Amino acid sequence: MLRFENIVKTFIQGETKTRALKGVSGSVHRGETVALCGPSGSGKSTLLNICGLLDMDYQGDLFFNNQKISKDLHLSTKIRRERIGFIFQRYNLIEAMTAFENVEYPLILSSQSKSERKQKVLSILEQVGLAGHEYKRPDQLSGGQQQRVAVARALVKRPALVIADEPTANLDTETATVVIDLMRELGATTQTTFLVATHDSRMTERCHRAIYLRDGLLVSKEIEHLEPQKFQKLTSGAKHAEHQIGMV
Ligand SMILES: Nc1ncnc2c1ncn2[C@@H]1O[C@H](COP(=O)(O)OP(=O)(O)OP(=O)(O)O)[C@@H](O)[C@H]1O
Ligand SMILES: [Mg+2]
Repeated sequence: MLRFENIVKTFIQGETKTRALKGVSGSVHRGETVALCGPSGSGKSTLLNICGLLDMDYQGDLFFNNQKISKDLHLSTKIRRERIGFIFQRYNLIEAMTAFENVEYPLILSSQSKSERKQKVLSILEQVGLAGHEYKRPDQLSGGQQQRVAVARALVKRPALVIADEPTANLDTETATVVIDLMRELGATTQTTFLVATHDSRMTERCHRAIYLRDGLLVSKEIEHLEPQKFQKLTSGAKHAEHQIGMV
């Protein structure tokens, strides 16, 4: 469903160059929930932004349903709008809008009628457990409820792929578990693919698979437990490390 090959990303700020991704490859299959793990600064958000077609300034190739995504702005915007949903750590809801309006927002640009939209929005809000809260604004909802609005907003247009950047980082354990299970459950019933950056072991444990990044390179969890020299040796040829460890 999603494949990225040899992705290299360099940030340039004045004289300073940061190679945030140094050639990472991997794939995520349809209906899978995959955790993207790694320490702070390892490149998780950078890779998510590329996979979510929010950033097109990179080297390497990205394939969506086996179709190569050219760095064509028009096509990328179309795919992003129609096929990809986003969930962020800070929910990113529009404060002046109710839960209903926030969830309806991604559908406004589509050709659906008002009554069709209403039915979809009410149905997904019910599925995320927010029946009765539809007309509250974000500041009238708890953090967990706001994140559930964000999950509903990401899923309402039935995207093929949902990109989530640390969706449980601001939530307490109990609420995080509810949100994770919700994502998994909705993902399974709708065959939606989730790629989720996370530091949260509760999240990783509930995913089908985990991909680990370190210093802009893909590594596996097992490799992290090897003695340092062996780890170094493996990651020094790390352009292809993911092949050696069967990540693809
Ligand atoms: N806009 C930017 N300009 C310059 N450097 C950046 C930019 N965004 C990220 N970086 C650098 O790229 C590297 C990877 O950052 P990234 O945000 O992808 O890490 P992360 O794994 O998401 O970290 P965290 O867990 O803290 O969110 C870091 O060294 C970071 O400082
Ligand atoms: Mg990040």
